[in-house]
Amino acid sequence: MKIQKTALIAGNWKMNGTIKEAKRLVSSLLEKYNATPSLDAKILICPPMTLLNYVGNLLEGTNIFLGGQNCHYEVSGAHTGEVSANMMRDSGCSHVIVGHSERRSQYGETDKEIFCKVEAVLEHGMKAIMCVGETLKSRQEGNAINYVTRQLDEVLNSRLSLENLVIAYEPIWAIGSGKTPKISEIEEIHEVIKKVLSKSLSQNHEVPVIYGGSVNPTNAEEVLGLEAVNGVLVGGASLNTNDFWEIVNAAS
Ligand code: 13P
Repeated sequence: MKIQKTALIAGNWKMNGTIKEAKRLVSSLLEKYNATPSLDAKILICPPMTLLNYVGNLLEGTNIFLGGQNCHYEVSGAHTGEVSANMMRDSGCSHVIVGHSERRSQYGETDKEIFCKVEAVLEHGMKAIMCVGETLKSRQEGNAINYVTRQLDEVLNSRLSLENLVIAYEPIWAIGSGKTPKISEIEEIHEVIKKVLSKSLSQNHEVPVIYGGSVNPTNAEEVLGLEAVNGVLVGGASLNTNDFWEIVNAAS
C-alpha cells in the first residue's frame, strides 16, 4: 500500500545530541540520501536549538529541511532562555514544532499560548507543525476526538491563514511507549482533523496531518499507507539513522 502524496518524514531529536553526535547522525543520513537518486518524501530534521546552525550547515545544498522544536511568540525581549520565531528563521529553519505534548505537560503551555506561537511561526514565513493528541484516559473513555478537536479551537476561531499549518496528531500515551492506536483509529482522527480544519480553508487546500507516537520501521508503511496520513513525526527512531531511513523508505 503506497501513499499518493509526498509525505513529510520529520525527525524530532528532542533534547538529544552534541555536536559530535549530530555530525555522526547527519553524515550517515547524508550517505544514504546521496545514494538514493529519487526520493518521494520530504525529510525534516529538528535538532535541539544549540545544533540548528551546525546541522543547517551540514544540510546545505540538499533538499533536507531544518526545523525547530519550539519558539517564543514574541519577536524579541526580556525572556531569558527563550528563542523567537524570528530567530528560528534566522537560523535556517523552514518549520517549527509547536505545542508538543511534552511542552504542554512539562512547561504548562496552554492552547492560547500555542496558538500565539503558531501565529508567530506563520508570520515569519515558516511552516508551523502544531501538535495535538489525547491522554490515555480520554482515549479509554471514548473522548479522544473531542479532546483533540478542542485543542484546535483557538486556530479554528482565528482568522489565521492556515496554508502553512501542519497538524501532528500525537496521542500522548503513544509517545515513547511502543504503543500506537489501531490503524483505524489513526485514520478516523486524521479524517476528523482534516474535516474540521477544511471549513477554515480555501476549497483546494487541505491541512496536512502527520502522525507521531512510536513510529518505527515496522509500523511506518502501514501508517503512511493511510490516505489521511501525510507523514510522520518521529522521536526515538530518528536518533538511529538506519531506522529513520527505513521510515523514509516506507514513504517512497
Ligand atoms: P517517539 O517516536 O519516540 O514515540 O516520539 C514521538 C514524538 O514525540 C515526536 O514528536
